[in-house]
Amino acid sequence: MPLFYQQNINANTRLAIWKIEETEEFFSGTVPLQREITHPHKRLQHLAGRYLLRFLFPGFPYHEIIIASTRKPFLPDEQFHFSISHCGDYAAAIVSSTDRVGIDIEIPTAKVLRIVHKFLSKQEQEAFGINHLDLGHQLPASGIQHPTLLWSSKEAIFKWWGNGEVDFREMIRLEKFVLEAKGSFNASFQEYPLQIEYGLFDRLCLAWVATSTTDEVI
Ligand SMILES: CC(C)(COP(=O)(O)OP(=O)(O)OC[C@H]1O[C@@H](n2cnc3c(N)ncnc32)[C@H](O)[C@@H]1OP(=O)(O)O)[C@@H](O)C(=O)NCCC(=O)NCCS
Repeated sequence: MPLFYQQNINANTRLAIWKIEETEEFFSGTVPLQREITHPHKRLQHLAGRYLLRFLFPGFPYHEIIIASTRKPFLPDEQFHFSISHCGDYAAAIVSSTDRVGIDIEIPTAKVLRIVHKFLSKQEQEAFGINHLDLGHQLPASGIQHPTLLWSSKEAIFKWWGNGEVDFREMIRLEKFVLEAKGSFNASFQEYPLQIEYGLFDRLCLAWVATSTTDEVI
């Protein structure tokens, strides 16, 4: 069973990463395909992400999932809040009965350096030391893991928000932190304080965020 990573965050919130080594039939035996996905690997990723929802919470009601106009999947009665990500041969999901959640996984590649100016503000680029890159010649001191994690963190916040239309540079702020294999750091979404939790694996970067649904968000 290629469970790559699992974390029970608290009694109500769990996350897992799956390394996809199975064929489509393994997942489609339990997971309904809600929409047509023509690309076979994308279909496999989608099924693996959905598979994790019931893996984490066995009673997860697949048939009640609705897709919002922003493409965010959700349950109308909010019995569970959940977020899904996939990249390469990995799928990840976070599910909670109490918390609003967002998750993202990324395989670090140098491509992220080409888009730092699109998702980091000038201040963030300076704070994290990845501004004025002579792309192709110079990597930031932390290599590509650090910028990948920053990208992944903003994607996780985008999914946590779930309402689309987010200017990553202006609306999401990440505060400086010391990069470790596993940790957390402060961030904000339009002044609303958030804590990003992250983990760096050999070839994979994970970021997630969870806040109580009783907290009022903007
Ligand atoms: C939606 C988005 C976050 C998906 O990220 P991705 O890296 O392409 O793909 P991931 O595998 O990590 O995530 C895909 C999953 O996110 C979920 N998702 C899709 N849209 C979502 C939304 N608006 N809110 C929350 N979750 C969403 C879905 O579960 C989807 O998987 P599924 O279709 O199999 O269920 C991304 O495409 C996006 O739009 N990002 C914002 C881009 C942006 O505004 N950039 C500006 C700065 S460059």
